[in-house]
Amino acid sequence: MTDLSKKETPSLRAVPEQEQAAPARAPESLGAYPQIRLRRNRRAGWIRRMVAENRLTVDDLIWPVFVHDENGRKPVASMPGVDRVGLDCLVDTIGKGSDLGLGAVALFPYTEQALKTSDCEEAVNPNNLICRAVRQIKQAFPEVGVICDVALDPYNADGHDGLVRGGEVLNDQSIEVLCQQALIQAQAGCDVVAPSDMMDGRIGAVRTALDEAGLNHVAIIAYAAKYASCFYGPFRDAVGSGTNLAGDKKTYQMDPANSDEALREVALDLQEGADMIMVKPGMPYLDIIRRVKDRFAVPTSAYQVSGEYAMIKAAAANGWLDNDKAVMESLLAFKRAGADAILTYAAPEAARLLQAD
Ligand code: PBG
Repeated sequence: MTDLSKKETPSLRAVPEQEQAAPARAPESLGAYPQIRLRRNRRAGWIRRMVAENRLTVDDLIWPVFVHDENGRKPVASMPGVDRVGLDCLVDTIGKGSDLGLGAVALFPYTEQALKTSDCEEAVNPNNLICRAVRQIKQAFPEVGVICDVALDPYNADGHDGLVRGGEVLNDQSIEVLCQQALIQAQAGCDVVAPSDMMDGRIGAVRTALDEAGLNHVAIIAYAAKYASCFYGPFRDAVGSGTNLAGDKKTYQMDPANSDEALREVALDLQEGADMIMVKPGMPYLDIIRRVKDRFAVPTSAYQVSGEYAMIKAAAANGWLDNDKAVMESLLAFKRAGADAILTYAAPEAARLLQAD
């Protein structure tokens, strides 16, 4: 056996004493008795599983599904493996997810250009695509949790999450429309509304609107710490809002430079009545998930967004990453960071891999 304590580490000599401490001590501890050897707990699968601190299960997953108002499926080019689904195959699609054990879906609509206006009327149409999809799913699978996104972007001629007037995204006027939108979704039968618009004060307003309408059983997942991120690019292709979007969303979504501010956002949303909060995007913001979980200890979800999904798929398609391993490792990382729930387009494949495990 090599005597590690004798091993020369000349490069360390130039380093100040303080910084040297950690690497210099390692050989000593191997020479000392009793020897601490962390590798004993990693020697075999049974013990690795026994000491695993975090575990991903199918119950953690929320599956985002895109719907469109035509028959059949249409692949989303920038999201390999993801289709926009027509109402004629929606029940079949959701049924397959449910068979895999997926308990919840989050619905997003692709809206025809002709239906997009600057007043976003289609967002509050009780017979819009999303409401029809919700009714269909709840009728076929009452036990599947259905989550609806509350934001105006799929319906907005300007591509923004709120009403735009004179180049400004209006806050309070947008909230009135968002409350209406949440109401029609809840009346259609969804279990959860998830405001993703980042207007100030919308969680309290939506909670009040739901309660006053006798819908106090409908939960709110607040996209509380939602960053102005380039990783939403493929999603905007999928819902067809990218081409409409004038400028960016930096006046309402968070600055990627900030972390304390995320705690303030979460604190406010909780005060206003959020049942679960969300951090989004996911992998570049694992530090935020951890801070939120440590500080508030409330149900927390992470959104592995379209761009994160696309990165894994692109690398895998090139043979640069192992798809299955990259998917599972990325999802486990959310659990380790403190997430209870994870929204991911990889939900069906992850569910399949968990079954095979
Ligand atoms: C819209 C919304 C977005 C996402 C979820 N809801 C896009 C955006 O804010 O521009 C992104 C999801 C993803 O990228 O997968 N309010």
